[in-house]
Amino acid sequence: MKNKSLDQLTKISKKIADKLSKNDCIFLIGEIGVGKTTLARVIINYLQKKNSLKITEVLSPTFNILYEYNLKNLKIMHYDLYRLHNSKDLDKLGIFSKEDESIKIIEWPKIIKTSIKNKLEIHMKYSKNENERNIKLLGNGKWENFLNEL
Ligand SMILES: Nc1ncnc2c1ncn2[C@@H]1O[C@H](COP(=O)(O)OP(=O)(O)OP(=O)(O)O)[C@@H](O)[C@H]1O
Ligand SMILES: [Mg+2]
Repeated sequence: MKNKSLDQLTKISKKIADKLSKNDCIFLIGEIGVGKTTLARVIINYLQKKNSLKITEVLSPTFNILYEYNLKNLKIMHYDLYRLHNSKDLDKLGIFSKEDESIKIIEWPKIIKTSIKNKLEIHMKYSKNENERNIKLLGNGKWENFLNEL
């Protein structure tokens, strides 16, 4: 766990965004209001800008569960699974269906038990300083050595 300022966190988010490709999965793990949606917003708006697309609002998917964003030849699916409670609910969503090659950014991913090839877990905690967060990154597949690239 390392303390990062919100500015540093934004920079890290953009580095993550630059590395994202199809089927990648980002898990955002941390308490209510710690900044998960904010981080997803940075990633999505950054990629919209990079692809010369319109910068859109990125709202919390707490009630809708999913918001979708189209990049040039890729989709970003931004999920918030807070209101789901079991794997049946999850199956209905079809997050990991074979036809779906989108990038997935998932808040409250606790109920996901599927093993995912290329996944980056971002664990966020409040720190004493309100402008900082405690961050831990855990990656597998192509994200395994991402920490060393920062
Ligand atoms: N990086 C940040 N910079 C500035 N403000 C932030 C940041 N992260 C969080 N906040 C503040 O905290 C509020 C809640 O953040 P956010 O919605 O991103 O949290 P969350 O972890 O997605 O919450 P939830 O668990 O409800 O989905 C924001 O409206 C904002 O005021
Ligand atoms: Mg949120």
